[in-house]
Amino acid sequence: MTIALKRRSFTEDDITAEVLRRFEGTPDSRLREIMSSLVRHLHGFVKDVSLTEAEWFSAIEFLTATGQQCDDARQEFILLSDTLGVSMVVDLINHRKPEGATESTVFGPFHRDGAPEMRPGGNIAPHDERGTPMLISGRVLDLSGGPIAGARLDVWQADSSGRYDSQYADREELHMRGLFRADDDGRYLVRTVRPVHYAIPNDGPVGQMLRATNRHPWRPAHVHFVVSADGYEPVTTHLFDDEDPYLESDTVFAVKDSLICHFIRHDAHDDASDAFAIEPPFYTVNFDFALKPRARTSGI
Ligand SMILES: [Fe+2]
Repeated sequence: MTIALKRRSFTEDDITAEVLRRFEGTPDSRLREIMSSLVRHLHGFVKDVSLTEAEWFSAIEFLTATGQQCDDARQEFILLSDTLGVSMVVDLINHRKPEGATESTVFGPFHRDGAPEMRPGGNIAPHDERGTPMLISGRVLDLSGGPIAGARLDVWQADSSGRYDSQYADREELHMRGLFRADDDGRYLVRTVRPVHYAIPNDGPVGQMLRATNRHPWRPAHVHFVVSADGYEPVTTHLFDDEDPYLESDTVFAVKDSLICHFIRHDAHDDASDAFAIEPPFYTVNFDFALKPRARTSGI
């Protein structure tokens, strides 16, 4: 008796087709869609560049090193996603805002839970003695311009030397972070220092990639916000300094025109500086956040 042997996998396209076939039985339809698209694009990429075995192994080593670089305070995979522009593509697909709503941008790798709750005007930079004081004020509004009383603002930024608290040796201590609430008129007030442009961590695999491709690691000066309120979609965003030299070339592609602000310099005392015992020079910036209503979900 002869056994008919089924011959398999003559060509690379045969392999692609067979891998796709193996995923056809995935019960979750969304997972099936994602896996089949991933296989098609990943195989297409490998064929497109005719990847060598040495290059394939370099990629394995690079991704291994990226994972090994991660710990509680360092998220190299988010940096990789950010510097490849993937984070901003995901942001744009998922946050198509109606006219008037504040635009979102990347979350980034430096947010930490546990920031202290602060009263209006609370200082998130109490240990930053070199920085120039800055007051950020404005309102949190709905799309018709009405105040959202009690809106929450989670604020964080790098200090005046361009580093986040988690990048210091005593990284357990939280600094340059605060949770604020808008008042009944939607007003908020944050005291901080003027942010500076900073280089993303580049002593790991992402830094290697940037150097090998002749890219710089700089991000324009910014302050991070997540603004949220019951009944509204939260927005994860930044406020950028309009005088920053890296606005055009942010290494994570996160600048949107509507988020660029003018930081006003004050060289003399005024009511605000007197109220908060701030010595000039200091900066002020005003920005109103607008949230869109949370989409209603069917109760059926
Ligand atoms: Fe940042």
